[in-house]
Amino acid sequence: MRIYSLLAFAKINLYLEIIGDRPDGYHELAMVMQSVSLADRVSLRELSVDEVRIQCNHPEVPTDRRNLAYRVVELMWERFPDLQQRHGGVEITIEKQIPVGAGLAGGSADAAAVLVGLNLLWKLGLTHIELQELGQQLGSDIPFCITGGTAIATGRGEKIAPLGNNSDLHVVLAKHRSISISTPWAYGTFREKFRESYVSAERDLAERWHQVHSGALVAAIGHHNPAEIGQHLYNDFEKIVLPAYPQVGQLRDTLAEFSSLGAMMSGSGPTVFALAHSRQEAERIRQQAQVELADPDIDFWVAQFCSSGVQLSN
Ligand code: C5P
Repeated sequence: MRIYSLLAFAKINLYLEIIGDRPDGYHELAMVMQSVSLADRVSLRELSVDEVRIQCNHPEVPTDRRNLAYRVVELMWERFPDLQQRHGGVEITIEKQIPVGAGLAGGSADAAAVLVGLNLLWKLGLTHIELQELGQQLGSDIPFCITGGTAIATGRGEKIAPLGNNSDLHVVLAKHRSISISTPWAYGTFREKFRESYVSAERDLAERWHQVHSGALVAAIGHHNPAEIGQHLYNDFEKIVLPAYPQVGQLRDTLAEFSSLGAMMSGSGPTVFALAHSRQEAERIRQQAQVELADPDIDFWVAQFCSSGVQLSN
């Protein structure tokens, strides 16, 4: 019985700007995404019975259809109707390290790993682009999570343009255990507050794209200049999450105080991150922030930028 074990890496947003409304009800985005080495382990095993079984060590992760990993299998079966007959079912074991509801795309990373893993397990020979096309039907972050590394993401987040190697930096991640933020809540709240500034007409959208200021960050990544990267971090969601959860802002400010490169919230939060030149520097920032805040509700992780989204592991 074949088993594949994969690492599914978390992502952070180095840049996240909300441009406006799309006809499909989603938001048009300009983002720069970065994979980091904090990872879930996702293992896939063929089952002779014709069903999907999900096991997960995290009590808040559903093991039924609500789990994106489950829906990946259903989507594959729907797309390739003879798979079920040829291969039977699959058991998926998810060992969670990436916090849930954290703005780190943990669920999307697991779904990406299941897509990559099923492609191997069932010898489908699909390309990354084909896997991304399948993945985008289930979640906007999944296409990025399949290829990972450093990339510009536009559209609703599913259009990916890789930015080459940016993997020297380290990062301290920090999250209040008691706070989880739902992505629909974050987008809904942003829409309520900033609806007037939204553009949606096609002509206005094209004009608005000229004002997106991610160019400086993209140039800094191209120059491999950590100080410049740190100066150009940006996340629109801070405008709604920090007022609703002042402790997240305090955590970000504390990390920023100890980091020479800068700190920012990731995605729709509440995880915040600080950049560091090296693992030692990241460990130092973590220790200083832990002592300063002395809050047992905050979890910290030290991770490294990495150049893939999913990695085969034994
Ligand atoms: O695509 P995904 O399932 O991750 O999106 C979750 C929710 O986040 C969507 O239902 C939508 O409310 C919101 N969203 C959005 N615009 C995006 C991505 C997500 O409004 N570009």
